Amino acid sequence: MLKTNNSHNLHRQNISSRQIDSYPRNLRCLIHNLEHAADFLTPAQAKDILSKTNISPPDLLPWADFNHPVTDGYGRKLLFQGKNFEIMVMSWLPGDFSAIHDHGSAQWGAVQCFGMADHYVYSFTEGILTTAKYSPYNFGMVHAVDRTLIHQMGNPGDKPFLSLHVYGCQEISDSITANARVFDLLEGSIQFTDGGVFFCLPESQINRRINGLKADRETLRRHHYLMGDRIKLILKTQHNASLEQKLIALRSLLPDLI
Ligand SMILES: [Fe+2]
Repeated sequence: MLKTNNSHNLHRQNISSRQIDSYPRNLRCLIHNLEHAADFLTPAQAKDILSKTNISPPDLLPWADFNHPVTDGYGRKLLFQGKNFEIMVMSWLPGDFSAIHDHGSAQWGAVQCFGMADHYVYSFTEGILTTAKYSPYNFGMVHAVDRTLIHQMGNPGDKPFLSLHVYGCQEISDSITANARVFDLLEGSIQFTDGGVFFCLPESQINRRINGLKADRETLRRHHYLMGDRIKLILKTQHNASLEQKLIALRSLLPDLI
């Protein structure tokens, strides 16, 4: 099934018109290996391809985005759009965290992180989100992504770093990670978005939502602290009545949230 998405089509045209030959050699290798792999990779195969490509942070610097808006939880740039896969580079400033999310239509993938990242994996059963495991990244580590993965990553340290993300599906698609789910535990909803999986998404970025989301205590506390941290950063730069109300609500739930 060929899906259409204007912003992704734009990326695709831009990138295909560039000289891919000018990309760093390791990235050209990665693109070649993914384009010549089977249409359907297992998450383990995707992890293996990424692990063996020997990419290093300087290869990714052209796609770094450390000047992203504070309302974005991290920087994100599309590096390459294949017929059934996409490659993205994410940029993590100290304190940057994603919201809890999945990956839209992605059926396989892998993430390589070039920093010491926090990484939490979640289970979602009968409307209740729980923390399944803490699975942090060390420098250069690769984790597989499967179609059921719900997770959250971020930079708890004091230095910025980059990560490299490959997402694929069996069908031809130029919007693999569109309609990803974001789990908002303050609102108690699952939000569907085509963009970054950030805390406190503006309404313009939410395609639709499902209400009634619940979570265990550990997951709620982590979510609320991280959301509170992001809101405080945003409010240092702008007045936003909606976010001020959210921060008041979070402080009433977590009295030790300063
Ligand atoms: Fe993710």
